[in-house]
Amino acid sequence: MSEGAVKKEEKARKFQAIKGTRDLLPPETGLWNRVEQTAHQVFATFGFGEIRLPIFEPTELFARSIGAETDVVSKEMYTFQDFDISEELLHLWRLLFTSKDPSKYEEVMALARLGGRVVHTVRAAFEDGQVSRTPENLSAVDNIELYATKLPGIANQGTRETSPVAAALRDAVTHLDFGDEVTLRPEATASTCRAYIEHNMQQLPQPVKLYTIGPMFRRERPQKGRYRQFYQINAEVLEATRKEVASGEWRVASKELEKDAAVDAEVIEMVMTFFERLELPGVQLDINSIGHAADNCRRGYVAKLREKLQEVKDQLGEDSRRRIETNPLRVLDSKLEHEQPIIEKLPRIADHLCEDCKAHYAAVKKELELRGVQYQENWRLVRGLDYYMRTTFEITAKGLGSQNAVCGGGRYDGLVELLGGPPTKGIGFAIGEDRLILSLQESGKGAVAQGRDVYIAWMGENARATAVRAAKNLRSAGFSVELPPVEQKFGKALGQADKLGARYALILGDNEVASGEWTLKTLATGEQGKFTETQLLEFLRKGRSGE
Ligand code: HAM
Repeated sequence: MSEGAVKKEEKARKFQAIKGTRDLLPPETGLWNRVEQTAHQVFATFGFGEIRLPIFEPTELFARSIGAETDVVSKEMYTFQDFDISEELLHLWRLLFTSKDPSKYEEVMALARLGGRVVHTVRAAFEDGQVSRTPENLSAVDNIELYATKLPGIANQGTRETSPVAAALRDAVTHLDFGDEVTLRPEATASTCRAYIEHNMQQLPQPVKLYTIGPMFRRERPQKGRYRQFYQINAEVLEATRKEVASGEWRVASKELEKDAAVDAEVIEMVMTFFERLELPGVQLDINSIGHAADNCRRGYVAKLREKLQEVKDQLGEDSRRRIETNPLRVLDSKLEHEQPIIEKLPRIADHLCEDCKAHYAAVKKELELRGVQYQENWRLVRGLDYYMRTTFEITAKGLGSQNAVCGGGRYDGLVELLGGPPTKGIGFAIGEDRLILSLQESGKGAVAQGRDVYIAWMGENARATAVRAAKNLRSAGFSVELPPVEQKFGKALGQADKLGARYALILGDNEVASGEWTLKTLATGEQGKFTETQLLEFLRKGRSGE
């Protein structure tokens, strides 16, 4: 290989994390662990249990829950075909799919043979159930066969004749559907509802309170606080209910509404408690009610809103204009400056809520006040996902710039039913963990204990065994210990201990081993003392508990 080629190869090998993804490194991961540990603790005190969900699910699950017209589903999902077929078929399919236009007689014949093999293999896969006999698949195979058998007859007539047939053959192969379309989860609510249904959780004592922590994926334009792989701490409360209650037809409703409102408020109280425990700065809670889709209040409001938006259509930007038809509520979300005065004059949902939604919203506010949770009403808070009804809320924090929503959530009665489960109420939220961490760091609340407790500076063969034993005993007592694998001169060892931010250096040389009295140096002060092993453990324990 020439020098240039070697250099090029070396350059190509320098992989980098994909745009919008990133590595989380120590010591920052210490902060992530602290945040997650606090979530486990706080959520447990509210009776939540952890659920761990798959990273990918059928695309249809998200499309149906979140809504086909939302940004998340229409633009941001990582979707791919999950081929569940033999290696051989996949290989043949790829060969055909990526085949070049044949020019020579032999190439045309080879392509014809490849087409024939694909037909044969797919038909065999129909027989053993590997590939489904859908009308699309059946017609795709027929077409592949048609073009593959046509090719030999025109093989020596030149590319003018063969190219269109080869292109038709490639096109036919794209219509083969070998498996489920799957998507990397953009959020966790849909999956939690899927799991609730799959595991018959309606048979458990209700409500079922679940939380999950993990990565989500959205193909958004990366910027500060916005990533393509980001992390959420997501909590949901699900409660199977009588059909009449779920549909809003059951008019003993006032007790039901009060109960729902208390659940909403408790969920919000939980996330606020969590933020308080972490000392997150500048927390602000916005709440709203977007009404009930089954009652006329939301439908009536959306119709009015659409009507008004039509009147001012010419003054709106492109996105808002499109949304007049697809999802007029989302116009309220617009951040475009010139649209703000127009939006301020639009009809407000609060003036159109039905009696039940109004009572529910009033009860939520009362329940929040009862819990000492401070909030601000925001009539424009509609949220970007379709499943919400009645309560919506969002929490912002300091130090985040334009992406300052650190948590979003709301009520979604009916979603479980939409996914094929029993009538069920739901309320939950997701915290953007990346943003939470950023905000903690920007405010100086992100410090994590670093460094080791003890660096063992040992020298001489006699000291080696003692050092290994000391490390083992100190570690089992819970201290973090650095044991250099080879002996070092004491000066170098102490320098290394300093660099690693160790609190103490335990000095073990021939003298210490012989006398059983070990030397411990406190690195910050330079103080030194002699201890037996038992005394040392006691001394360190006292230091740890701050006595
Ligand atoms: P969401 O508002 O789409 O709601 O996301 C919740 C939070 O996740 C946001 O407030 C933000 O902090 C964070 N987040 C979203 N996208 C990104 C991104 N690209 N980069 C960094 N952070 C991001 C939901 O996901 C709902 N499933 C919440 C929910 C649960 N509603 C009911 N239950």
